[in-house]
Amino acid sequence: MKSSLHSVLNRAILTRSLALGLVAWIHPIAAETPVSWWRDVTPVFKRSCNGCHNPNKLKGEVDTSTFAGLMKPGKHGPNLAAGDPVKSLLITSISGKEPDMPKEGDALSPQEVALITRWIQEGAKDDTPADAYSTRLKEPPTYALPPVISAMDVSPDGSRLAVAGYHEVLLIDTGSLELTSRLLGESPRIESVAFSPDGRSLAVSGGAPARFGEIQVWNVTDGRQTQGLRRTTDSLFGISWSPDGTRVATGGADKSVRVTRISDGQELVKFDNHGDWVFRTTWVAGGTRLLSASRDRAMKLIDATNGQFIDDVNKLLEPIDCMVRHPSEDWAAYGGAEGGLRMYKAKENQDRTSGNNDVNLVREFERQPGPVQSVAFSADGSLLAAGNTGTEVRVYETASGKKKATLSGHAGSVFALKFSPDGKRLYTAGFEGIIRVFDPVSGRLQAIFYPVPLTPVRQTAQN
Ligand code: HEC
Repeated sequence: MKSSLHSVLNRAILTRSLALGLVAWIHPIAAETPVSWWRDVTPVFKRSCNGCHNPNKLKGEVDTSTFAGLMKPGKHGPNLAAGDPVKSLLITSISGKEPDMPKEGDALSPQEVALITRWIQEGAKDDTPADAYSTRLKEPPTYALPPVISAMDVSPDGSRLAVAGYHEVLLIDTGSLELTSRLLGESPRIESVAFSPDGRSLAVSGGAPARFGEIQVWNVTDGRQTQGLRRTTDSLFGISWSPDGTRVATGGADKSVRVTRISDGQELVKFDNHGDWVFRTTWVAGGTRLLSASRDRAMKLIDATNGQFIDDVNKLLEPIDCMVRHPSEDWAAYGGAEGGLRMYKAKENQDRTSGNNDVNLVREFERQPGPVQSVAFSADGSLLAAGNTGTEVRVYETASGKKKATLSGHAGSVFALKFSPDGKRLYTAGFEGIIRVFDPVSGRLQAIFYPVPLTPVRQTAQN
């Protein structure tokens, strides 16, 4: 009796050590090398999960595409408990005879499930490399064709031109018309550029459509990037500086208007009252209010300190593609998708709904031959220029609405227009990727140039 109990115990001990030995023998490396999130787990998620679980398609409110995403609780609670696979929804959902996940497609292999289980067991550590999601180019791009120019700005002293390129912003000396700096940031697409009021910094908005939006700030003198802030999952448009140079406002493909503090990147205000993409922002009332312009046809007045909606400024007539503030008055001119060109007071519009009046309208200009893509005031406010999807840019006298000049020769949409501060030049650019310099009064072309060096495409003989 005694010996038999002994032998049972002995056998049990033997079996356990055998089993342990066996495990160690099957996974000789497993015991030493911890599972890596980045190297081992992300490829599995990328293949089988991220299609349904990413920031743009959040099935069950679960995002498996990044470590930070996975750590956010889903609809049914936290996806995992670090160190405790048994209590982790993630493991439950991929285990068993007929696992819940992936919802469609092949189940994960037992090895993959074991790997993810062990990663959680080992504490679910994040080892994502710092530059893992970087989209920054190591070298400036080479262009066989000039890049479409979506945006442009002139520095307050008129000495520099900032031009949107592909993955980069180009700084050009306006005296020599030479390229002086190439500012390579994260965003493949640059949507807007704006010099700070003191001219020392350049703010840039852009992003990668359906992936991320971004705000960049650059030191213009040494070409160093001082801020790079990813925001939202889609492009940011229409960046503008507060008059004191401490904040920027942006519009977005997510229909938002945001105010961001430059010094620490903190988002101070988020406004969600627009019904469509917000293409432009500008500051009015001494920097206490914001004006935003959207494809939803409205120019909205917003309290810049708390993001509260004040009023629609205009009667809703057509989708707004572009807008610019008058340099001295609290007025703004917009260009519409149906060729409208109108100037408004940036004020409350109490009578709008009752009387269907457009009480803030200061002036309606001649209808443009196509959707208006760009508008600009001269520095003294006396001239207003508008570019459209046709070949002409038209220049008007702000006070009378009379056409002063027609600048022709463009072979595609004009997306960017800027006057030099002395009013002697009007820079135009757009689809063609060419910058033209006009005399805005006579309409005479003064110069024409590409902002980037072009690399000729080599013709290879083919048989
Ligand atoms: C074809 C789409 C699809 C794929 C692929 C997919 N899921 Fe899901 N997943 C869903 C849906 C839909 C839900 C929400 C179910 C619900 O709310 O009841 C969900 C929910 C979840 C949840 C929350 C818990 C639960 O079961 O509701 C987790 C965790 C999860 N998925 C993990 C994964 C993992 C890991 C993969 C890859 C191995 C994956 N999913 C692949 C569609 C998918």
